[in-house]
Amino acid sequence: MANSKKSMHGAWSSRFTFILAATGSAVGLGNIWKFPYIVGENGGGAFVVVYLLCVVAIGIPIMMAETMLGRRGGQCPINTIKSLAKEAGAHENWKYLGWMGTIAGFLILSYYSVIAGWSLSYVLKAFTGSFSGESAAQINTLFVELKASQGEQIFWHTVFIGATMSVVAKGVEGGIEKAVRFLMPGLFVLLFLLVAYAMTTGYYTEGLKFLFQPDFSELTASSVLTAMGHAFFTLSLGMGAIMVYGSYLPKDISIAKTVFWIAGADTAVALLAGMAIFPIVFSNGLEASAGEGLIFQILPIAFGNMTGGWLFGVLFFVLLVFAALSSAISLIEPAVAWYIEKFKVARTQACITMGGVVWLMGLGTVFSFNSWADVTFFGLTFFGFLDFLTANLMLPLGGFLIAIFAGRVMHSHHAKEELDLKTDQHFEVWMFLVKYIAPAAVFLVFLGVLGVFG
Ligand code: PHE
Repeated sequence: MANSKKSMHGAWSSRFTFILAATGSAVGLGNIWKFPYIVGENGGGAFVVVYLLCVVAIGIPIMMAETMLGRRGGQCPINTIKSLAKEAGAHENWKYLGWMGTIAGFLILSYYSVIAGWSLSYVLKAFTGSFSGESAAQINTLFVELKASQGEQIFWHTVFIGATMSVVAKGVEGGIEKAVRFLMPGLFVLLFLLVAYAMTTGYYTEGLKFLFQPDFSELTASSVLTAMGHAFFTLSLGMGAIMVYGSYLPKDISIAKTVFWIAGADTAVALLAGMAIFPIVFSNGLEASAGEGLIFQILPIAFGNMTGGWLFGVLFFVLLVFAALSSAISLIEPAVAWYIEKFKVARTQACITMGGVVWLMGLGTVFSFNSWADVTFFGLTFFGFLDFLTANLMLPLGGFLIAIFAGRVMHSHHAKEELDLKTDQHFEVWMFLVKYIAPAAVFLVFLGVLGVFG
């Protein structure tokens, strides 16, 4: 029976290790790179409110569902869903939910690695003092040059994929735990430092207003979709990352408490990043809607201006790379676990094959910033298209189906037994959220984007 099986890929040594790994998965480029730039592109406060609502009403219940499904299934997401569907007497086509998620992780990693590569190149730039005393315009040129250079981006993309695959090859208990233990506290310290710098710019209040004062007239259907998609992306939901980590979670650990902790830490990092970035944007007379280069064009200005800024710059980008690494690992783990279960090969071999394919696909993202800049898919660049397809469509759709599966397909006494919440009322609240609220919210947002509400 699925319930008593221990995962063939190993197990976490404690609840704390699971928290570390899942927080490592959640906190990444999504919080520090993506959150500020999409907030900037979507008009600020109102977007943030929608994002926070989505985290609470959709993200947290679905994260509990994913963890619970993973632990009960005990295999890679594809086989977990397959065996849980069987246990529930449901149609075997549910396995495509596992497939969609695994593919989404693959696609996300292909561009995620390129952006992590930018961060790697900024470690070097900070180290060699490229930011010190530079004007905002000069800092901007650095970024424009990086985006134009295929060689530089491919080099760092290769380094990052190599690093990711070598950690994954060591297995889930090895590399992840150690990296995240010093990463999280370090990241918080540096973000606080940047927020402190932002307070000295004279534009702190303006930055906070932009971030926290909602102007709902700014909100369009497509920004609501982006906010919801980001709630999934930032919490690593809808594709099986949390599910696969849940499958390494020992049976005697409470899922609910753990999930609140992870979602709280993730949200805190994103908000701190926003509080650091927008005051610097405004104090330099720059545009909040600059797009995917925002942090690379803004934070170096701060590092260039503070005493010892090169060192803080190095530390910051190093921590960003590690945060990206601990997320990247979870993006590819479902695919690697599947490959091992399917072909009965060694972890290393699975990693080499999967890493190779992802690396190749990443080239498309690199080219989308230079030689393919004018090539569009549905009006978006290759990178823009991949990001939209995965974060705004595949993850919410995956989350929708996971909610349906956990709330309606699986026997509720199995869910109850696995979640083991403190009281029956707690379970009822969770059930209500996954059965009605989360799927209805995703559905309505999709309808809204299709223009159904005019
Ligand atoms: N949550 C990660 C981030 O915010 C990205 C991610 C998405 C990781 C989906 C795993 C699965 O950077």
